[in-house]
Amino acid sequence: MSENINSLKSTFENELSLVDLTNKEAVDNLRVKYLGKKGLVTDLLKQMGTLPAEERPAYGKLVNELKAFVAEKIEQAITTAQEAELNKKLSEGYVDVSLPGNGIPVGSTHPLYDIREEIIDFFAQMGFEVDFGRDIETDWYNFEALNTPPDHPSRDMQDTFYMDEGVVLRSHTSGTQIHYMETHKPPFRMIAPGHVFRVDNDATHAPMFQQCEGLVVDENISFAHLKGVLQLFMKKLFGENVKTRFRPSFFPFTEPSAEMDVSCVFCGGNGCRRCKGTGWMEIGGCGSVDPNVFKNCGIDSEKYTGFAFGFGLDRIAMLRHSIPEISLLTSNDQRFLEQF
Ligand code: PHE
Repeated sequence: MSENINSLKSTFENELSLVDLTNKEAVDNLRVKYLGKKGLVTDLLKQMGTLPAEERPAYGKLVNELKAFVAEKIEQAITTAQEAELNKKLSEGYVDVSLPGNGIPVGSTHPLYDIREEIIDFFAQMGFEVDFGRDIETDWYNFEALNTPPDHPSRDMQDTFYMDEGVVLRSHTSGTQIHYMETHKPPFRMIAPGHVFRVDNDATHAPMFQQCEGLVVDENISFAHLKGVLQLFMKKLFGENVKTRFRPSFFPFTEPSAEMDVSCVFCGGNGCRRCKGTGWMEIGGCGSVDPNVFKNCGIDSEKYTGFAFGFGLDRIAMLRHSIPEISLLTSNDQRFLEQF
């Protein structure tokens, strides 16, 4: 009988060596096959009844040893299988924390906003106050007080957006000069950045754009002060090497008036396609405050003089970044904005 026991032991060892130890179910099947109620080891125990009484103790001992052996091996195999299963789960759910993430897109400031901030910084350092004014003006602030007569071409419906009788979307920031002078006593210096509106629409003109006004009033303010301030400002915007020139011009609210040009930022003044071969680019208007404007605001034009200027922020942004179409600045096109 002991051969039966030995041969079952080697069959078991053989089968165990073949079973897939990562497969818990296969290991469990092996357990049932040997140790279950109808299992092979259990069978051997049942056969004990067929033996003569004196052989039974020795036989029983051997079968029990086999049973303990099989049980131990199966238990080890089950532990191995459980570990394998756990490792598999861990490897499937594994998160590599060193991989790059999905990234949160980070926005940037708009080029027009940047330029406005730069302008405010520059003038604030020179003691200018900032007044944003208002987008909707009456005829008085946009025209009349600025010495602009009723028959002036800028009053035409084709140039200015009229809302109601005598109410307009401001066509320039100059009206803020009037509000400021009505409420402040000289001496003062201020800038007035803001949106303005004109009936205009092509590659370099938009129905809405931004301007920045400037106004300085004190005793003995001359055109030389105006030139000094604006020359410094242009250097700040376009670099040390930029040249400026002032061409005689006309604005109803300044006398004398000038148009300020800077040397072309693309060719440095040699003449190119962008500056139409002239070497210069127009930046804005300026001049000494017309005494009539002072009178309209109750400021003594015998005692005080001043200068004013106004230029377009969109224009500066276009020159700075070589932007070919003004409408790109307000189109909200991500492909455009991502470049800044
Ligand atoms: N308001 C003028 C314009 O829009 C610019 C300007 C401002 C000119 C102040 C002189 C003085 O063109």
